Parts: sequence; structure tokens; C-alpha cells
Amino acid sequence: DIGNALASEASPGVSRASLERLDDQVAQAHERIERGMENAEHGYEALNLPERTDPDEIRTAVEPVADAEALITVGIGGSSLGAATIVDALESDTETVFLDNVDPDWISRRLESLPLEETAINVVSRSGTTAETLANFLVVREAFESEGVDWTERTIVTTGESGPLRDLADRHDLPSLKVPDGVPGRFSALSAVGMVAAAVCGHDLEALLEGAAAERETLTGSLFDCPAYAYGATTYALDQRGAGTNAVMPYAESLETFAEWFAQLWAESLGKDELGQTPVRALGVTDQHSQLQLYRAGPRDKLVTFLTAGTDENRPIPETDVEDLAYLGGSTLGDLLEAEFEATEASLAAAGRPNVRLEIDRVDEYELGGLLYGMEAACVLAGELYGVNTFEQPAVEWAKKATRGLLGGGVSESDSDSEARRDAE
Ligand code: PA5
Repeated sequence: DIGNALASEASPGVSRASLERLDDQVAQAHERIERGMENAEHGYEALNLPERTDPDEIRTAVEPVADAEALITVGIGGSSLGAATIVDALESDTETVFLDNVDPDWISRRLESLPLEETAINVVSRSGTTAETLANFLVVREAFESEGVDWTERTIVTTGESGPLRDLADRHDLPSLKVPDGVPGRFSALSAVGMVAAAVCGHDLEALLEGAAAERETLTGSLFDCPAYAYGATTYALDQRGAGTNAVMPYAESLETFAEWFAQLWAESLGKDELGQTPVRALGVTDQHSQLQLYRAGPRDKLVTFLTAGTDENRPIPETDVEDLAYLGGSTLGDLLEAEFEATEASLAAAGRPNVRLEIDRVDEYELGGLLYGMEAACVLAGELYGVNTFEQPAVEWAKKATRGLLGGGVSESDSDSEARRDAE
């Protein structure tokens, strides 16, 4: 719902006429996107994942650890956040731990808290060379060995066709899956990269892909009948009008990690050539009591993206004999959450602060698949409108290479002319 992003007496927003003009560019961008998908071009191929990903292959790979009590996913950025978004959103009996940071205190505490003989390891790196992931994997492996647990029986690897992690998987004959060609990390949630963890947790992989496939069907050449393009085009138009910050605020605790995934998608894909919108992670209602002050009364440089989800779960608020609290009795926490959201949305609209609402029916596999796919499509569309290369991340690669260089890990031949090599040396 982009109603609160449109220009009105209360809001600078973007005018309907401007969006109609922008729709011609959306139609051209859509043609480009379709062509990229048809030719399986790098990046655009990610939008073909609903048809390309094979749930049976993923389930077969995780079979040896399907009864694990806990799962450690070792990966970072696009090799972690998709899986984290899915498993954090959905209920499961499997405890999940994501090791991305290399903070030694935190890693030690996480490893000490897990029953390693009942724990599976999911190591993910497209390149197979990322220092954080490889270092954490070696640390995890050693922790298993020091407790006498055979890690080779409990590890699944997802990586590219070749590289150090692929060599390691081959050497130890580990179950392994391939990161699909043409799919950058942050667009890989709906491949083995994001779905191995979901499979170990017993989630419905088919439903995730079906939800994504249904969203794919909505990609038409006009922002006026495609929710994903409406979002991508509106955020772009608002950024052009000064909304350089996009605060993403889910109203469901289980979707908090979604905001983190979104922040990576938006920042790493669009932050190029001195363009792009800065994503900010927020959580409704928690951040109504912190960041909201700034969103409503601070600089007029923001868009707030709300995300709401229906739920069948509810909890009545008990009656009380304290007179001032009587208004709560008879309501439910669900009523309160809804009231909090509506009040916040209305308060921003009344203050002329543009906001957009994304709605999903409930938090389940099908809806999540659609949400992830829709936001990826929105991002690809926005990238076309900005005219940036959505699918590359030279700044991230620069830092990765420089880190390896500083540790004496060398820089590969393909990096030999890079600034990273010079600076690392
Ligand atoms: O989206 C991206 O390309 C990055 O965030 C990568 O996923 C991240 O740097 C991890 O890279 P790799 O999968 O090669 O370990």
C-alpha cells in the first residue's frame, strides 16, 4: 500500500502524475529483467530460482543430520541472512545458531552451550574463500574434534563449483550442494544457500518455492499492478525526492531478521556510484519507543516501510481492578499490536512523513517465499531505475581481499591489479 507515499496536502511524497511518468521506465526495466531471466544472465537468474531449486536434492543432502537437535550455520552476508530470515520466522524444535561474526568471546559461548554430538554444521560460502566463514568453520570443526565428535558425519557444505571449501568437501566426502550459477549471495535465499537450514528444521521447502513462484507471476510491466515493482519504483522515486533513508519496521517479532536481510539486499545491491538509499533496521512496536521520535519529527529524509503479518495466535489481556488500566481488559495482545501499528502509521501520515505498508497474510513458508522473492524483484527493478550494477559488490570484495592480504593469505591472480592488493601489501 503506497497511499501514504503519495503527495498530498500533508505530505511531500511523490505525485501520482510522477509515478505515471515513471511507469514508462518501469516497463522498459521490466523488459530488461525478463530478457535477463530468459538468458539466465548473472543476477537476473536469481529470479528463476522458484523453478530451478530442487527441494528433493536439498532434503537428500541433509538426510544424515535430519534428526539433529541443533544446527550451526557458518556463513556471512548473503550466505547466512536468507537462512536466518527463514528459520527465525518459523517455529521449529531445532535450535539454530548462526556464526557470521568472528568475535571469539561470542563464538566460544555459543559452542559451549550446544550439545555437539547432537548438532549439525551447515557451512556456506559461494566463493569458498571468505576468511570469516573459513576461520569459523575451522574453529567449529576443532571444537567437535576436541569432544570426540566426528564432524564429517555432521557437516553439509554449500559452495561454488571449485575453491578451497569445495576441495575440503571432496577430500572428506561431505554431502555438498552447489550455489547456483548466476545467483549473487544476497539473492540466494531461495536456493540451497538459504534452504539447507530450513530443511534441517523441517520446514516446507515446496511451499517456500510456491509462494515465490506466485509472486513471480505478478511481475508485469507496470508498477500499478505489481506490488514488487510498486515498492521498488516508489522507494526509488522517494529517494530522488530526498528520502535517502529507508527504515524497515516489521510488526512481528519473528520478522526482525527480515529487516536485517532487507538491509543487506538494499545496501549491497543499490549502494553504488554515490547512489542508493540507506536501509535502517527497526522493529514494531519496540522502536516506537526509540526511533519513532526521529522518524516523525527529525529531518525529512526518510521513508518508513512497515511490514505487517496476520496471525491466528492471540492472548487475552486479563481484567484488572486498577481503574486506569481498565481499558486494556477484554482486549488482546493482538488488538494492542494492531492499534500500535495503526496509530504509528497514522501519526507518520499526519506529520507528512512518507510510509509504505507491506502486508503478508501470516508468517508461514508460502508467504515468506513470496515476501523474499517480491523484495528481490523490487530491488532488481530499483537497480534498473538507478542504472547501477545491482549484482556486483566491489566495495565488499575490496575489504575481503584486503583482510586476506593483511593476514598474509595472499591475493588470487585475478586480484593482481586491484587496489586491494596494493593497499593490503
Ligand atoms: O551478497 C554477497 O555477495 C555477499 O554478501 C556474500 O554473500 C558474502 O560476502 C559471503 O560471500 P561468500 O558466500 O563467498 O562466502
